[in-house]
This record gives sequence, C-alpha cells and structure tokens, in this order.
Amino acid sequence: MRRTLTTAIALAIAVTIAPSASAHQPVVLLDTDTTPSAGPLLVDGTISFAIRASFTKSGQKKAFRAALKEGDQLAVQYLIVDKKPENSLKNSLLPQLVITSPTGKKTTIAIKERTKFFEPFGRTNYLYLSRISTPAEAGIYNFVITSRAKSAITIAVGDRETQGEVLRGAAPTPTPSATASKPTPQPSASPTPEVTTQSAYTMAKVKENNSAASCWTVVSGNVYDLTQWIKSHPGGSSAILSLCGNDGTASFRAQHRGPGRPESTLASYLLAPLAK
Ligand code: HEM
Repeated sequence: MRRTLTTAIALAIAVTIAPSASAHQPVVLLDTDTTPSAGPLLVDGTISFAIRASFTKSGQKKAFRAALKEGDQLAVQYLIVDKKPENSLKNSLLPQLVITSPTGKKTTIAIKERTKFFEPFGRTNYLYLSRISTPAEAGIYNFVITSRAKSAITIAVGDRETQGEVLRGAAPTPTPSATASKPTPQPSASPTPEVTTQSAYTMAKVKENNSAASCWTVVSGNVYDLTQWIKSHPGGSSAILSLCGNDGTASFRAQHRGPGRPESTLASYLLAPLAK
C-alpha cells in the first residue's frame, strides 16, 4: 500500500515536470470541477492516481468520479504535504471528502491518523490522514471535496500500477428525462446470494431503455447510456438509435477499430458492467 502510494505521488511529481502517458499521472482538479459530472472521470478506479485539490478559502468545492466494477476494491487515501498551512490545521478545518457509491451510499471520510512518510522521488514529506479499502460496488463513485480553510490535499485512488485513462469534458449532462429513466438501484435485502446491487444493469433493463428518450446499449459487457450522444454522433443519429436497447458490440466494433476517439467517447457514457 505504502509503496503504491509512494509511486503514485512520485509519478505525479515526475509527470508535472515531464508530461507523458504515465500510468500514475496526477490529476489536478480545476476551479471548474465543482461537481462530479463537471470533474474528471477515472475510467478505471483501481488504477493508481493522485488527485490534487487546492483551495483558497472555506466553502469551495472540487469533485471527480471513478468507475469500478464488481469484484474491484475501492482504495482511497487522504493525504497532505507535511508543511504549513495544512499540517497546522485542525481536522475540522481540513477539506471534507464525501464519497457517494453507485447505489447512493454516502461516506464522509473521517480523519483518523497523521502518519508521516517520506516520498523519496519528489523528496516530500507527506502525512496520511485516512486510508480506506473496501469491496466496490459496480458503477461510478462520486468524490466531492469541500474546503473549510485555505488548504491543499491529495486524494490517492486505486493501487494498480498500470496505464490509466482520465476523461474530461465528454461526460454527459443527464437531461431530466434521462435522469428519470435511470434506475434507482436498491441495496439488496434478499438473502439470496446471486441478487446483487448491480441488478439495475441487467440485459432486461437495457432492453427497457430502447428509445431516443433513453438509449442504453451494451458494448463488450459494459452498459452505456448513449442518450446524449445520439444527436452528436459524427456517423449519424440512426447508427446510435439502432443500438438502443441492444447489444451494440458487433456494430460498434465493425465500424470503429482500435483505441481512439470512438472508444474514449464510449467510455464517457459508461453506466456499469452488465449484470448477469
Ligand atoms: C457505440 C456507440 C458509438 C460511439 C461512442 C461512436 C463514436 C464515434 C466517434 C467519436 C466518431 C468520430 C471519430 C473521429 O472523428 O475520429 C464516430 C464516427 C463514425 N461512426 Fe460511430 N460511434 C458509435 C457507434 C457507431 C455505429 C453503430 C456505427 C454504424 C453502424 C457508426 C458509424 C460511424 C461512422 C460511419 C463514422 C464516421 C463519420 C464521418 O467520418 O463522417 N458508429 N463514431
């Protein structure tokens, strides 16, 4: 865990100096990243990223999202650099991090420790303030950070050291109709093991979202909400409409090969892995 974080931060610093396609690139939250949908999306939340958020005063918000799949682990660490003003702030004045799971479960990260560690690559002393690792729900986690004083923090997400992808600006802003059509996943109260919280994203549910008003499709085992993309698709709206409610893997792959814009556009509309 410590080595992973150390590497993430080291790479974060290295990438600041020499921007490159690093697996552990830093993600600096912008002043416009005030809500999860306006902020960046970590396409795979198990891959190690260091998210930087700095604030000039109390009451500011910065936010981002991370997608996870069933069976993944949600690993999050809250850190500050061991220097003033952050290290002299009381816990109650440090930014608050609230994580909302795909099923709407909110967790306010409690500051539980002030554990020092020296990060040798950037030669920086950090303090761990909190570390969590818990089995993930499938879907998109929202992270909202609210400041309570001038401060800067780092949120480390994920612990897998491999190539990661961050999407910005391609996120759909759900229309009221699209929002209304989204399922409200119910935490499973059933003792039957196969009933999981992902039951909202079954093929049966995809088939219900088969129109321009709410257009879901499946590509390679993931469910996407393409409602907002219908009118924007360079290959025409009818190509997308033909996918609504269906498995679009073959049509998508036949038309668009290899990584590139179609693939990253698609990723920005991810809802969750298809539930069996
Ligand atoms: C699954 C959802 C799809 C997504 C996210 C998607 C995304 C995209 C994107 C981003 C481009 C622009 C590529 C570029 O400029 O480099 C594009 C172009 C295109 N797409 Fe799709 N596509 C999808 C499905 C389809 C399907 C099912 C078809 C056909 C049956 C199709 C046909 C085309 C064609 C013909 C173009 C080229 C248009 C042109 O250059 O004028 N797409 N698509």
